[in-house]
Amino acid sequence: MASLSERPPSFLVLGAGVIGLTTALSLRAAYPESPITITATHFPGDRSINYASPWAGANWCTFARDNGRLEHYDRVTFHSFSEIVDKYGPAAGIERKGMWGVFDSPLEEAGLLSEGTGKIWFDELVGGIRVLGENEGPEDKVFGMEFMSFMIDTQRYLSWLHAQTIASNITHIRRTYPSLSLLMSAFPSTTLLLNCAGLGSYSLTDVADTTMYPTRGQTVLIAEPKVPLTRMYFRSTQRLCPEATYVFPRPYGGGVILGGSRQDGDWNAEVDMELADDIIKRCCKLAPELGKPEDLQIISHNVGLRPSRKGMIRIELEKWSNGIPVIHNYGHAGAGYQSSWGTAERALELVKTALERKNTKL
Ligand SMILES: Cc1cc2nc3c(=O)[nH]c(=O)nc-3n(C[C@H](O)[C@H](O)[C@H](O)COP(=O)(O)OP(=O)(O)OC[C@H]3O[C@@H](n4cnc5c(N)ncnc54)[C@H](O)[C@@H]3O)c2cc1C
Ligand SMILES: *[C@@H]1O[C@H](CO)[C@@H](O)[C@H](O)[C@H]1NC(C)=O
Repeated sequence: MASLSERPPSFLVLGAGVIGLTTALSLRAAYPESPITITATHFPGDRSINYASPWAGANWCTFARDNGRLEHYDRVTFHSFSEIVDKYGPAAGIERKGMWGVFDSPLEEAGLLSEGTGKIWFDELVGGIRVLGENEGPEDKVFGMEFMSFMIDTQRYLSWLHAQTIASNITHIRRTYPSLSLLMSAFPSTTLLLNCAGLGSYSLTDVADTTMYPTRGQTVLIAEPKVPLTRMYFRSTQRLCPEATYVFPRPYGGGVILGGSRQDGDWNAEVDMELADDIIKRCCKLAPELGKPEDLQIISHNVGLRPSRKGMIRIELEKWSNGIPVIHNYGHAGAGYQSSWGTAERALELVKTALERKNTKL
């Protein structure tokens, strides 16, 4: 029998949200010969409160300001989105779009400046930030800015990612696993497991990460207004704020997403109609092109749970009791799309570290 080190390593990915799919594609790019399997309860097309990815807005608008690793994840992803748009056009569900960020507090207090540098770190990355004039945006704003970013139609992007994994000979198995140990015993030829279970890492019995908690988000999907919106809008006092308001137009029949809310520790999957009315009012005020609340055609009310984690995201190598290396990549909170390619790159570095350790021991 050939020794293990001569065979390409075999990878198992738990989770088919934006993180599992992106991680699997990054693995494929680095290991063209390896068997890769994605297993999950939910796959693109599903809608469940236990599946965060379909419910995101989504756009690239970084929360990072650590002057370090988190900014790096978002920077890498910004470049990846750029490459995807240039290579695949709108078919991938991502497009370049301008964005107006409107703040109800001065720049110094808006949670935008990085530690150490005291600057907005992505100014150059996005091709320059323009400060809005007095007559632009809501009259009662404290300050506003405009920059080019990316808008992601999550429905289209998730199916595109899914199609990419199928085209790259990645196996898909739909199944729920109560623990990582049981998952690994179902796939005995696995060299390495990637845990991309999102909020599922709270309930997997042998991960049981009780520092995980949901940050509930509610949105409204409406029909396109007669005159299409030309940009995305965001408004709040702080970049990270419980009642940030946003309007994300999705072309190609995607409608317009109105948000939002950030409710920490709230697991409630039911739509709060009072909150929905409030979101609609706030959005119509922010983007007058939408018209009056009573003019909107409502398509659906949506609730999603962001996989938040005290002490931040977990991207970590852990040697399991059965000797198999496990690489965790979960807890992306409200930044799973905008950090996806950067966090997958970090997970891949840990894969390489784990395989090197394994090979030197053989
Ligand atoms: C309203 C809202 C707006 C948002 N806006 C943005 C935005 O503008 N930009 C942005 O970057 N992010 C945004 N997000 C955040 C983003 O949606 C999440 O960070 C991201 O979807 C997390 O992806 P994930 O793959 O980690 O988790 P999920 O999408 O939840 O996927 C988890 C996967 O693991 C599987 N799984 C879990 N446990 C098990 C088990 N025991 N057995 C088998 N399978 C299991 C699930 O079935 C699923 O396939 C938003 C989120 C919400 C709710
Ligand atoms: C697809 O992957 C399987 C193992 O997962 C392998 O046996 C097969 O040769 C691969 N096919 C191609 C075309 O690479």
